[in-house]
Amino acid sequence: MSKCKTERLDRLLSNLGYGSRKDVAHWIKEGLITVDDQPAKSASRKVEADSVRIEGKPLDHPDGLTLIYHKATGSVCSHKETGLLIYADFPERWSDRKPPLSSVGRLDKETSGLLILTDDGHLNHHLTSPKHHVSKTYAVKLDSPLSGSEQDVFASGRLMLEGDEKPCLPAEMTVINENEATLVLHEGRYHQVRRMFAAVGNRVTQLARIRIGALTLEQTGLEAGEYRTVTPDALINMISPR
Ligand code: URA
Repeated sequence: MSKCKTERLDRLLSNLGYGSRKDVAHWIKEGLITVDDQPAKSASRKVEADSVRIEGKPLDHPDGLTLIYHKATGSVCSHKETGLLIYADFPERWSDRKPPLSSVGRLDKETSGLLILTDDGHLNHHLTSPKHHVSKTYAVKLDSPLSGSEQDVFASGRLMLEGDEKPCLPAEMTVINENEATLVLHEGRYHQVRRMFAAVGNRVTQLARIRIGALTLEQTGLEAGEYRTVTPDALINMISPR
């Protein structure tokens, strides 16, 4: 939603997750909504989002919503699945927004770490498109000690994962100790880190995404389950500083 765009009041509020068009008509009757400081009279009136107040409060992110988020283990990156969803960490209203707030790629249920969410389709595309080369760094804990060959195998660009048609792009692994490493990926395939280590005979026991491009989880200061709203421009600048 761009600034100064006008939209029907009921449509605007229902797309921001406040309630149904019927709810909006009801709130107008109750005098809860103002437009330019005057009580709203008609749900069909075209308005600018910045001029609307509900119970005196400005609208919740009417120009779009983008977040950086520290996903905890145990929650699922989905709107549809049952069980604990990442969306439980955000205000309930955000789950009813249109366009929907979606994660930029996904982290597995048992993976924690840095995740971006946005309702901006262009930003989502920008961050996932191979053209923009946004690397992702993972901290990995392993069941068995590293054998010593993993760095070369992962960097080779020849590692084939079961069911895939192309080998993995070269990835950089750094050893922390015999059961821990970091791995920088330049693409995002389904369960990629777990499958890469499985392909060299090991098993990932703990996985966290600690960096997206230049933005580290540590520098965000976010604890597991916490998020912060950002503008798309600020986010792009954090990920790929000019
Ligand atoms: N690789 C995985 O195996 N899982 C993730 O969640 C992310 C990368």
